[in-house]
Amino acid sequence: MLPSLTHRRAEEEDPLPTDSYQPKRNKPSGRMASALEYFLREQRPLFVLIGIVMATALFLLNPNLLHRPLSISGSSVLQERPSGYDQRQLLQRESLVSPQISSLRSQGFSPGAKIPLGLKRKSMRILVTGGAGFVGSHLVDRLIERGDSVIVLDNFFTGRKENVMHHFSNPQFEMIRHDVVEPILLEVDQIYHLACPASPVHYKHNPVKTIKTNVVGTLNMLGLAKRVGARFLLTSTSEVYGDPLEHPQRESYWGNVNPIGVRSCYDEGKRTAETLTMDYHRGAGVEVRIARIFNTYGPRMCIDDGRVVSNFVAQALRKEPMTVYGDGKQTRSFQFVSDLVEGLMRLMEGDHVGPFNLGNPGEFTMLELAEVVKEVIDPNARIVFRKNTEDDPHKRKPDISRAKNMLGWEPKISLREGLPMMVDDFRRRVSYDGKEPVKSENTI
Ligand SMILES: NC(=O)c1ccc[n+]([C@@H]2O[C@H](COP(=O)([O-])OP(=O)(O)OC[C@H]3O[C@@H](n4cnc5c(N)ncnc54)[C@H](O)[C@@H]3O)[C@@H](O)[C@H]2O)c1
Repeated sequence: MLPSLTHRRAEEEDPLPTDSYQPKRNKPSGRMASALEYFLREQRPLFVLIGIVMATALFLLNPNLLHRPLSISGSSVLQERPSGYDQRQLLQRESLVSPQISSLRSQGFSPGAKIPLGLKRKSMRILVTGGAGFVGSHLVDRLIERGDSVIVLDNFFTGRKENVMHHFSNPQFEMIRHDVVEPILLEVDQIYHLACPASPVHYKHNPVKTIKTNVVGTLNMLGLAKRVGARFLLTSTSEVYGDPLEHPQRESYWGNVNPIGVRSCYDEGKRTAETLTMDYHRGAGVEVRIARIFNTYGPRMCIDDGRVVSNFVAQALRKEPMTVYGDGKQTRSFQFVSDLVEGLMRLMEGDHVGPFNLGNPGEFTMLELAEVVKEVIDPNARIVFRKNTEDDPHKRKPDISRAKNMLGWEPKISLREGLPMMVDDFRRRVSYDGKEPVKSENTI
């Protein structure tokens, strides 16, 4: 069989006698001719024409098809940001693939801004300094719940791992032990800057460290925001109003602060932090937000930190007398922590720099607060009076009209509703044997 096959192939290749002359074929023109012949057969040009018309019509009707980002199982590849990716490259890449996002940016929207109805919000990577503390840990809960990735940065001076431990197995959560006084580089979209001891006992413990945290720490975080193009939110305080001469306090009030008192490391530290924040905004174009927080209470508050609500609650639970400093007629307003977190998030997502007062305008004297604590914990709890400490403000009550009008925010939870939630948490943590006395120094 093999020889016959070989023979036949030889015939096919050269069927003509070798002595007859045959002009060489012009191969290319022959191929073109046969290609043309193939193309013209069976109405092929008509089908090609129909295809072109259909594709043109499709792209004319939906031009976004040209720019749609690559998709892996329904989610945008852009959400997966490679670590160490340069922000500028990322923005360029985003504007290449997503004209919707770049057109939103050109209208003043940014990664942190409100997303119009109908457009799915992009998940963000958010840094929370002081995120293991009282307010920070509640903020972290909300951000994670919303679907963002959160990095907590904390030196655990007053914060506790227990406050965020429930997120440890969540890949959306990362925790770094770090002091904000030292620089750090992280790729993030937003920075909530909370790191700073907030109670008098803690911030007076090492005043130089407190002011360094407020000044150098804030500088470092603003520098980071500038470098990576993140939006920055500063948690300032009602203490910037000092012992106020205006009541209630509006954001336009410049305050009455002692620059050389024992509280100045905190009060003046926060005032400087506000100045730095505005200077980075005006001078370096950093997107910033400033919140002036009034007294806040709730679960996870540090038990022995000398703040008036935690003091009274811990003392009443331990069957100790509640310590009132001075005559107890000085006033404060108390906001529940979930209200504050809502306000901080609205501020970060909104379009206004601030500053904004975030507090509950309900005003209580220390004696009235002690009465509410008695109602909730123990009607027989006693009160003792002690000499008041230096620079304790006489009145504090926020005017929150600006936050109401511009952020659509106001607190929802009254003291009588919020206190029992804090008491439940304190009951679990307070020691009842009386061997661990509350280191009461001063109120708020
Ligand atoms: N809770 C309030 O009533 C209140 C009122 C006004 C302002 N604020 C501000 O809100 C923020 C949070 O307050 P809080 O009540 O949660 O206080 P907190 O003490 O519970 O939390 C502060 C967190 O910052 C961390 N921290 C402190 N110094 C740091 C540093 N150098 N580097 C890294 N981490 C550091 C602490 O370990 C802690 O986890 C503070 O900036 C505070 O000034 C709070």
